[in-house]
Amino acid sequence: MGDVVLELVGASKSFAGVPALRDVDLQVRAGEVHVLLGENGAGKSTLIKMIAGVHEPDSGRILVDGKEVRIPDTRSAESLGIATIHQELNLVPTLSVAENLTLGRTPRKHGLVDRAEMRRIAREAVARVGLDVDVDRPVGTLGIARQQLVEIAKALSQNARILILDEPTAALTRTETDVLFGIVRELREAGVAMVFISHHLDEIEEIGDRITVLRDGAYVDTVPGGTGEAELVRLMVGRDITDLYPRRASEAGETLLEVEHLSSAGLFDDITFSVRAGEVVGLAGLVGAGRTEVLRAIAGADRYDSGSVRVGGRGLRRHDVAAAVDAGVGLVPEDRKSSGLVLGASIVDNLGYATLRPTSRIGLEDRKGQRTRGTEVADALRLRRASMDQQVRGLSGGNQQKVVFGRWFMAKSRVLLLDEPTRGVDVGAKVEIYELINTITSNGGAVVLASSELPEVISMSDRVLVMARGRLTGELPAAEATQDAVMSLAVKEVESTRVR
Ligand SMILES: Nc1ncnc2c1ncn2[C@@H]1O[C@H](COP(=O)(O)OP(=O)(O)OP(=O)(O)O)[C@@H](O)[C@H]1O
Ligand SMILES: [Mg+2]
Repeated sequence: MGDVVLELVGASKSFAGVPALRDVDLQVRAGEVHVLLGENGAGKSTLIKMIAGVHEPDSGRILVDGKEVRIPDTRSAESLGIATIHQELNLVPTLSVAENLTLGRTPRKHGLVDRAEMRRIAREAVARVGLDVDVDRPVGTLGIARQQLVEIAKALSQNARILILDEPTAALTRTETDVLFGIVRELREAGVAMVFISHHLDEIEEIGDRITVLRDGAYVDTVPGGTGEAELVRLMVGRDITDLYPRRASEAGETLLEVEHLSSAGLFDDITFSVRAGEVVGLAGLVGAGRTEVLRAIAGADRYDSGSVRVGGRGLRRHDVAAAVDAGVGLVPEDRKSSGLVLGASIVDNLGYATLRPTSRIGLEDRKGQRTRGTEVADALRLRRASMDQQVRGLSGGNQQKVVFGRWFMAKSRVLLLDEPTRGVDVGAKVEIYELINTITSNGGAVVLASSELPEVISMSDRVLVMARGRLTGELPAAEATQDAVMSLAVKEVESTRVR
């Protein structure tokens, strides 16, 4: 490891009088991957936003190459050689991949935008992260994982000396994470100083040179890479967690969800499966396998071409979210920002959106009941908040995710479709979500759990369905669902025509 390139001394930051960071120190050296570890709301993103020029510290100092600097805006960060991959993506959905990648430094020729050059730069940038995509496509039409890769490509193309990665792997599968880590290792060799945030302890063990732990906005300790997971968890949450995946299987009852021959041109083909009351059925696959699309079709969010969905024996009209909700189907979507939350509304309101109708009496909304139940669920999920009336916008990423899950938990859906429900959630809070999944199934609910996190999908499901290229390639009972078995089905070539 080289010299200290970036240093924070006694940095503090409050929001509306509530401290998010208190007196935190951090030193990052050239050629090191410095991990920031902490529970949801511990202050990780707030810290990196001070380096990225999003927030200025209320007190404390920032030093780059030993010299004190002010970083009042993102431009100042860039000119100091700092590039940031933000946790909440900063792409413009309506602009193309190429436009996003060259934003702020559009290539010009004779005063006009040089489209050919722009495409060339963009193609090179996406190829570097192993992304195969048409660079003329609007970014908003890509899935969340591909958007994440575009964001990564964008930060990398700035050739920064200090690279900040705030949960870059949260939306990626293992294969894509491997590509990213290959690049991180190259950058480490080249002497780039990196700050890396992740809730995946295995990734931290794999790539971290040093780990700084934050708890409740305060500095806890800096430990060397290779520190064991149990120790990291203890430093982070201040207690031991013995069982990371506490699945309690329930007795399976009647069939609640029947999906038959569901097809949608170009997305998925001939999907058939069923889920019984009390069951958790996992849905595994690589990014782009079609899991999200199938869940959205079942929930009425998107149309499909043929096939049928039945809930409790009754056919569900296609492309009708209201009908699906009435039938007791809830979808926790993968992209909390665009399809899950109303950022400007309070925690109480966001938690209540799916339930207001069912709990309203004689046309009146049961506001008081909402608040009581909402507070119970928020407590169960350890939602870190100033108050239940706080806007969801001010919550940390992982805490926003808990609100999305909490909403559908409160709705008491009979059939709950979970698409990456623990993305960005810390290890302690994950266990709380798993406990709520157990509660749902022991109350007779049926759960479909789509997850890119293999240990999660394997350990929390009673059986695992695997998708590849829009088709189901196999089913494994829990006892046979090893990582290897799932992966070999996930990369299986489907005999007939390729769907996507
Ligand atoms: N713009 C804001 N307005 C009000 N409060 C904020 C704002 N940004 C952050 N906070 C608060 O600061 C605290 C730290 O949030 P931060 O986003 O830094 O957490 P984090 O460690 O990144 O968590 P996560 O793992 O969930 O991403 C939280 O309590 C959060 O609610
Ligand atoms: Mg964060």
